[in-house]
Amino acid sequence: MIERTLAIIKPDAVERGFIGNIISRIERKGFRIVKMKSMVFSRECAERFYEEHKGKPFYEGLINFMSGRQVIVMILERENAVKILRKLVGSTDPAEAAPGTIRGDIGLGLPANSIHASDSVHSASREISILFGEEEAKHT
Ligand code: CMP
Repeated sequence: MIERTLAIIKPDAVERGFIGNIISRIERKGFRIVKMKSMVFSRECAERFYEEHKGKPFYEGLINFMSGRQVIVMILERENAVKILRKLVGSTDPAEAAPGTIRGDIGLGLPANSIHASDSVHSASREISILFGEEEAKHT
């Protein structure tokens, strides 16, 4: 089924000049880039985006890492988009991620794992709504 998902190229990858490399991997895998923009998360935006992690030991470090630095956010579309993007991205911890995956090849560690990918269609819809607005989220 055609699905939409959300990807974020994180500050560690943007600052090291890997935007093109990551977009190229995403395109090569057959995703259509529906919307894409460069932005900087405010603290409030990062807290809203990652609210499910509130209270976890890594939460503060994650919010600090994601706030006030350039990121690239994208709505991506293809058949089975959520699952296929997660495969392309690899395991959360770059130390565990397989070579050939984005995190396995580019990720530095945690939280600096270079890319975020929604973990379900429901999460994609919530995340798209936060970063692109309600109207875009209706298409997920
Ligand atoms: P992401 O896919 O964006 O979802 C939550 C993020 O929290 C994750 O990628 C990492 O950047 C970060 N994260 C998850 N687990 C840890 C951890 N144990 N220590 C530090 N950061 C983490």
